[in-house]
Amino acid sequence: MTELQYLGGFGNQLSSEALPGSLPMGRNSPQRVANGLYAELLSGSAFTAPRAENRRTWMYRRQPGVKCTGTAHQALPHPTWKTGAAAGVATPPDPMRWHAMPVPTDRALDFIDGLHTIVVNGDADAQTGIAAHLVLANCSMQRVLINADGEMLIVPQQGAMTITTELGVLHVAAGQIVLIPRGMAFRVALDGPTRAYVCENYGAPFRLPELGPIGSNGLANARDFQCPVAAFEADLQPTTVVRKFGGQLWQARADASPFNVVAWHGNLVPFRYDTKHFMVIGSISFDHPDPSIFTVLTSPSDTPGTANCDFVIFPPRWLVMEDSFRPPWFHRNVMSEFMGLVHGQYDAKPEGFKPGGMSLHNSLVPHGPDAEAFDKASNAQLAPHKLDDTLAFMFESRWRFRCTDFALNGGALDPRYAECWAPLSDHFKA
Ligand code: FE2
Repeated sequence: MTELQYLGGFGNQLSSEALPGSLPMGRNSPQRVANGLYAELLSGSAFTAPRAENRRTWMYRRQPGVKCTGTAHQALPHPTWKTGAAAGVATPPDPMRWHAMPVPTDRALDFIDGLHTIVVNGDADAQTGIAAHLVLANCSMQRVLINADGEMLIVPQQGAMTITTELGVLHVAAGQIVLIPRGMAFRVALDGPTRAYVCENYGAPFRLPELGPIGSNGLANARDFQCPVAAFEADLQPTTVVRKFGGQLWQARADASPFNVVAWHGNLVPFRYDTKHFMVIGSISFDHPDPSIFTVLTSPSDTPGTANCDFVIFPPRWLVMEDSFRPPWFHRNVMSEFMGLVHGQYDAKPEGFKPGGMSLHNSLVPHGPDAEAFDKASNAQLAPHKLDDTLAFMFESRWRFRCTDFALNGGALDPRYAECWAPLSDHFKA
């Protein structure tokens, strides 16, 4: 089991050294770094960003980035990785749902090859919006990925991943999430056929939401986030580096693997979070709160309270409300909702929404419980009830999503989705 350390809080200054004595003390870039290392800064915010939002990490490494992340890049075509609203296609204002797509077995697909963009919004150059991707992969990366367009929030659904980053190694499996900061080199190894959802966030980095009247505890607690400890490869072999930059992929050879950081300190770190540590808050009287109560991480936009993206989960929880329709109500939200199901059942669609599937309910597109869920919840005995074995999530954005051509024509779109509401009849009695 790889060693990890706790963040303690977002933005905390952390440090780690794989070889004792490698980390300079009292200064960031001494004239000569111990053990013959190079000092290199990776910044995740403008130098003058407010202190609470400022992110950067100093790395002490055997080779600097210019030697180990490639130069003289060549364009690398990728048929299914799309960036920004402009890469989407005309998308009707329909509720949409996709069946779980199988992991192909007829060809080798690593994390990069296997990435399929489903919905896009915003603009990576303008640092707004996100893309939601589905990764269907069956082999480990033999190359390195650096995403200069956005951070990557990975939500594994099937299969476990070992993610090697410049700052160390993270293991992640279904039920956990991992975040790779923008611009940090990483490589994904798999233990078998793998399906994962990914939010590529071009906007402000994900952070914990404010808690307001909830107080100082609850939702995702800062202490439960874990980041790696420093680890470096002993044998720095030449490697292929793929860079996502300006909505395109580029490829170059580098003299040495970038996983050569012997020590580091800072607050720009990859991290892992286990959703089972999420403290769920809900109604203990009647009705239920808005789903914002399930926000794990938020990427704010320039308008307060109006997120570029909220990462929201629907984990196991007790339902105890009296005289209430307990599943999500019928709604038309101005925010746009992309959903996936990691495992179990989703209470608004007990049968129709399967693990590995996806749905899109765009801005102001009406949706809600299917007819079966509506009937059941309208007539249920309202004893305390535990929703168990369930983990759905949402990437919710203020920016309307556009589907990709792959999403609309790739074969997984469910053309009969709207039929789940067909049996809802007019019960009105004058
Ligand atoms: Fe919704």
